[in-house]
Amino acid sequence: MKRAKITIVGAGNVGASCALWAAAKELGDIVLIDIPEFADKTAGKALDLAECAPIERFDCKITGTSDYAHAKDSDVVIITAGIPRKPGMSRDDLVQTNVQIVKAVSEQVAKVAPNSVLIVVSNPLDAMVYTAWKVSGFPTNRVVGQAGCLDIARYRTFIAMELNCSVEDITALLLGGHGDDMVPLPRYTSVAGIPVTQLIPAARLNEIIERAKQGGGEIVKLMGTSAYYAPASGSVQMAEAIIKDKRRILPCAAYCQKEYGVGGYFVGVPCILGKGGVEKVVEVELDAAERKLLDTSVSHVKELVQVAERFLKG
Ligand code: NAI
Ligand code: 2OP
Repeated sequence: MKRAKITIVGAGNVGASCALWAAAKELGDIVLIDIPEFADKTAGKALDLAECAPIERFDCKITGTSDYAHAKDSDVVIITAGIPRKPGMSRDDLVQTNVQIVKAVSEQVAKVAPNSVLIVVSNPLDAMVYTAWKVSGFPTNRVVGQAGCLDIARYRTFIAMELNCSVEDITALLLGGHGDDMVPLPRYTSVAGIPVTQLIPAARLNEIIERAKQGGGEIVKLMGTSAYYAPASGSVQMAEAIIKDKRRILPCAAYCQKEYGVGGYFVGVPCILGKGGVEKVVEVELDAAERKLLDTSVSHVKELVQVAERFLKG
């Protein structure tokens, strides 16, 4: 059987961690790409990872390069290229720099891997997915952003910590953009089938939700740069669903036209992910309060996209 090929553009903290998770899961051959100035460093990271194989027992080829020719015919391309935020910065502060980086990367990827599914990770996420879509010319189902898998993992982690139970038993739903106004939905959160609202008092659950919403900032304050292990884990969870055509329902930044009344933007919604990328956006019923929170988050995404579009036009 032909191995899948996963290219990861941006071999920094998130990109290298994606390569590690993808190799450990033996998802396929991996190509790590960074800028020419870091060609040796990228080759070194790839070699270091390849040398884990005898211990971790995975068979895949790992290449580190600045040459996009190696990405030819990739099945999935994960874009992590771009600057991360530092203490005091919001994700939105990154837009001017990262829009140019994501544009340059998407142009290259579209040439060498025209049939790939793009998973965008660079921030500000929802505007960068939009940029990658515009520049690549790919159909909307083959461009998707990673944020929800991370945000929901944080939310599930904090609930498991609170209840002192396994994270595996917590399922949850989250909507909206990858900003501090993302919308975790307690009504759609359960612990082994038990509604979370029966297990955690409303006031405490709100504190947990707030912590999840500020989860990126919490890590930036502690580490001086943004998170990478969990963001990479979320990205590879999506790549796995696509490569193995698992049709998992995961929260992803997907293109929504009439879905949720969004009107042509990428926002976090539950999606069925399979070999075609986003196979379907799943719509859930929202009450008035949930609808209002989603509308606020979506309007923030729209503002950011307008800023990104201005920089894109130069
Ligand atoms: P990093 O600085 O460790 O790595 C970024 C890499 O991108 C660097 O190695 C850099 O040389 C490379 N790069 C820059 N321009 C490039 C180009 N034109 N072509 C190829 N590579 C290029 O940063 P880190 O921590 O890996 O974060 C990467 C991005 O991911 C940031 O924008 C960050 O905000 C975002 N992020 C998004 C998350 C999400 O959930 N969506 C979570 C965590 C980070
Ligand atoms: C995070 O949520 C910064 O988007 C990044 O950790």
